[in-house]
This record gives sequence, C-alpha cells and structure tokens, in this order.
Amino acid sequence: MSNDAKRFAGEKAIEFVEDGMIVGVGTGSTVAYFIDALAAWKDRIAGAVSSSEQSTKRLRAHGIEVLDLNATGTLSLYVDGADECDPHRRLIKGGGAALTREKIIAEASERFICIIDPSKQVDVLGRFPLPVEVIPMARSLVARNLLRLTGGQPVWRDGVVTDNGNLILDVHHLSIVDPVGMEREINQIPGVVSVGLFARRPADVVIVGADPPRVL
Ligand code: 5RP
Repeated sequence: MSNDAKRFAGEKAIEFVEDGMIVGVGTGSTVAYFIDALAAWKDRIAGAVSSSEQSTKRLRAHGIEVLDLNATGTLSLYVDGADECDPHRRLIKGGGAALTREKIIAEASERFICIIDPSKQVDVLGRFPLPVEVIPMARSLVARNLLRLTGGQPVWRDGVVTDNGNLILDVHHLSIVDPVGMEREINQIPGVVSVGLFARRPADVVIVGADPPRVL
C-alpha cells in the first residue's frame, strides 16, 4: 500500500483537532503522518498523551509536550491506526505491539478517530493475526488456552518486548464472527494483559486514506 494513502488519512484527522485540546496519539506509520501534521498545531493544543515510546519520541522531536494520562483525565480526542477494520468500525490492532497503551487511551477518550489505508478494510476480522500481549511467565499457558478457545494458531512474536516489558502472541487463521465475545473471552485468560481486538470500544470515526479521504 502506498504511503500516500496513509498520509492522506493522517492529514485528514487534523480536522478533528480543536484549540486547547489534549490529543491522544496512537502508534504506527499512519499515525506518524498525523504527528507530523500535528506539529503545526503545537502552540494551539495543550499537549498529547502518547501510546508508545516510538510516538513519544516523534512528538517530542516536534516540540509537542507529552503528558501523563493520570494527570489529564478524560481526553476529548484519540487518533490511531489499525491493522484491520470491519464495517462496524471494530478493529484489530497491535501490529506495532502497542495495543495495551492504545486500548487504555481509547477507553479514556470521548472520540476515537481511526486512520487507515484501504488495505485495512475487511468484512470479517481475522485475516491479520490477532495480537495478544502476555505476561512472560504465562506465554505457554496463554498459547494453549488461545488454541483451545479460538481454534487459531498462536505464534510467539520472538524478539519483541513491549513497552510494558511483556511478550506478544499473534493468533493466526481466525475468522472472528463475534468480536465482542472473543475480546471478552480472551481477556479472561490469566496472564493476558490485553488483546488487540477493539470491539467493545470500537472507533467512532474511520478515515480511509484516499484522494479525497473517505470518512466513515
Ligand atoms: C500499533 C498499531 C498500529 O495502529 C497498526 O499496527 C497500524 O500500523 P500502520 O499505521 O503502521 O499500518 O496497532 O500497535
């Protein structure tokens, strides 16, 4: 997918930013375009809450102040990308291993704007392997439970440690017909920190990068 599609989506999301806002900022290559566009707003916003060390670095490089979510309270806006998006704006996220902080900020935000290129649109979630962040000592236990629960194939994302010091299992070969139910079930496995299904709290608006961008 061309970077232009990601750039069109990232730049369009700027239209949702308002003076004085604290902006929740996701992670990934599409969000990088949003951060670059947000730089022009740095003196008009009150700061940003970041979902990863990667985004924090980019925000600070632009001179945008990064704030602690514990000090900000509820955010009015969160902008983030996704690995898959269904027609109900439910998402798979976590390709960049930032799913836990992303889910926290999505939950803390009144409005979640998801920015994607057209390749991310699917009818049924699951073609993209579903990321699950796990406590290291529970890796094998959680993998066995995921296999039994979902019928998919969990694969350890070897070499990746999340910003929270945890591991990622990617569950392959899924066709997720009940995303809310699967999110709830996976969350109940001991050792799971979070699952990259954003179904209980889907995006409120999806921007698909094109010229002109499509707002869903
Ligand atoms: C990171 C994410 C990203 O939003 C997702 O992987 C999409 O990334 P990109 O914009 O680079 O395609 O969930 O954890």
